[in-house]
Amino acid sequence: MICLGIEGTAHTVGVGIVDQDCKVMANLTKMIDGSKGGIHPREAANHHAENVVPLMHEAVAKAGIAYDDIGLVAFSQGPGLGPCLRTVATAARALSLSLGVDLVGVNHCVAHLEIGRKVTGCTDPTLLYASGGNTQVIAYAGGRYRVFGETLDVGIGNMLDKFGRSVGLPFPSGPQLERLAREGKELIDLPYSVKGMDVAFSGILTAALQLHKQGKRLEDLCFSLQETCFAMLVEVTERAMAHVEKNEVLLGGGVVQNKRLQEMVRIMVEERGARMFVPPGSLCVDNGAMIAWTGLIMNKSGLKTRLEDSVVNQRFRTDEVDLPWMKA
Ligand code: ATP
Ligand code: FE2
Repeated sequence: MICLGIEGTAHTVGVGIVDQDCKVMANLTKMIDGSKGGIHPREAANHHAENVVPLMHEAVAKAGIAYDDIGLVAFSQGPGLGPCLRTVATAARALSLSLGVDLVGVNHCVAHLEIGRKVTGCTDPTLLYASGGNTQVIAYAGGRYRVFGETLDVGIGNMLDKFGRSVGLPFPSGPQLERLAREGKELIDLPYSVKGMDVAFSGILTAALQLHKQGKRLEDLCFSLQETCFAMLVEVTERAMAHVEKNEVLLGGGVVQNKRLQEMVRIMVEERGARMFVPPGSLCVDNGAMIAWTGLIMNKSGLKTRLEDSVVNQRFRTDEVDLPWMKA
């Protein structure tokens, strides 16, 4: 069975084609330019509407298949920006109807976890999901993937991008910020903010921007931002691991491509006698292949989304998702 999956929760529209062994036959993405400020949901939706069909054609060609070879259509049903979600849901419905194949609505956060589990070979991980819009620590407990900790305000990536935009870095700022941080020498005190298992980033952003105005070296600020924010992520990840007694950490989301974050997580897991798993970058960021793969395992468990149930869910919680494949 071959599944075509469409991702479109935020900046990125993606089309992935995956088979039942998780061979990624195509995985194409297109991201709206966010350099001029936060993304406007309707502009992003227009971007996705313009790009989703060309991306589909391109992905089918890249995979070397015909549309008739597609046995399942999956789409990101939430959480995310309403107009973006509705655009890709419409594309997915149209494709599944015209091909006469099942449609499956996929939870975006669960998709990050499932593709990571499959491609890295970990079985029962604690996921540190750090992306633009999301920052969550998720693990399997009591039959569901549960969110043990999350950001109380902005996602870590959005915070880094806001800082970068204000100080004149290109968008997205994460990679450039990582390069500058390597030149940092002084660790500047920033408001470390962990509340139980949750984290908050807006106070750190305000403080870092103020210090930048006061003339602190940009390299030192980038270094200090990384050290402070990543230490917070590592702390809540470790606390969740101890709580659920698990010894695998899976990384997901665009921010985990940061080598310093990987290093800090690695030190923590090694001290605990645990292991860290990092999927390839193209599968860490928002992409269609993770949606396609999750659609396949859901469908294999007998799940499909009827047309009348295919409305999007902007606030689709990770722990709302039933996971029959985990119980099998
Ligand atoms: P989501 O809907 O999952 O929140 P998104 O489109 O906002 O998705 P991703 O595609 O997962 O997020 O990741 C993009 C984010 O990752 C951006 O905020 C970007 O700055 C950040 N990022 C990318 N590379 C790095 C890096 N090396 N260091 C830190 N942050 C990075
Ligand atoms: Fe994501």
